[in-house]
Amino acid sequence: MPRVLDGAAIATAIKQEVADEVKKLAAQGIRPGLAAVLVGHEPASEIYVRSKVQTCAELGLFSDLITPPDTVTTEEMFDLVNSLNTRDDIDGILIQLPLPAQVDAKFLLDSVLPEKDVDGFHPVNAGRLQAGRPALAPCTPAGVIQILRRSQIPIAGKHAVVVGRSDIVGKPVAMLLLHENATVTICHSKTQNLGEVTRQADILVAAIGRPGFIMPEMVKPGATLIDVGINRISTREQFDRFFKGNEKREAAFLKRGSVIVGDIDPAAFELSSAYTPVPGGVGLLTIAMLMSNTVRAAKMRRGI
Ligand code: GUN
Repeated sequence: MPRVLDGAAIATAIKQEVADEVKKLAAQGIRPGLAAVLVGHEPASEIYVRSKVQTCAELGLFSDLITPPDTVTTEEMFDLVNSLNTRDDIDGILIQLPLPAQVDAKFLLDSVLPEKDVDGFHPVNAGRLQAGRPALAPCTPAGVIQILRRSQIPIAGKHAVVVGRSDIVGKPVAMLLLHENATVTICHSKTQNLGEVTRQADILVAAIGRPGFIMPEMVKPGATLIDVGINRISTREQFDRFFKGNEKREAAFLKRGSVIVGDIDPAAFELSSAYTPVPGGVGLLTIAMLMSNTVRAAKMRRGI
């Protein structure tokens, strides 16, 4: 039987450590602060941001939720980011993505002070990460490493195959795994003979954004499977492909008209030695690592 890597338990442990650190800082008169910028009314973004703000409150961090109108311009967002860059009560700036089409997202992410870039999206932080310098690492990739470490899954010397090359997950998680001394291969949508490569993986990280993309025949028996995907499926055909006969999921599907599936076909989990479920795996670590990055940014900015 494969081991289920429990994202909830690991996220709770990390949040407890962050709360303890926040208490220590409070004794020195320091309260780490996060600014969360949410433009528009994308339901998923609203849920994420609400959860980020709520977690700040739970752990004792200050937070400021800023919601510019849907019609906001790049210039107005730039002015906002600059004001957050200079505010002393703000240690971390989070601009929830995606931004509306009229806003130049890359320009804005580049205008966040790297020291306050708690998402780790600024090229300076990407460069620091790659060069092995202290950096604020993107939250989801950092969460993947925490899951592996805290589950005592060896990384050093293992072959880690990352499927997906995004700036937010694929590239940074590959770099973090390399720093943990894994042998790392990055695959993507144009990789030839993908299954041949993924079958070599001791640790397979799927971050390609396609439902059930990694099928059982692409997995080496006994591998550790890390599923970063969050895909909503809403057709009966897709449901039956992944969850036919699964009563709990069926009830959820009938109630909500959709369910979430990761980038790994759940049938592949059965071959693994350990895997992160979706939901309940990597996703839960993202906010915990955001809190951790914000406290870290608060300390670094004060030379602690
Ligand atoms: N949208 C989806 N995931 C993320 C994330 O980790 N950070 C931000 N800022 N936006 C996102």
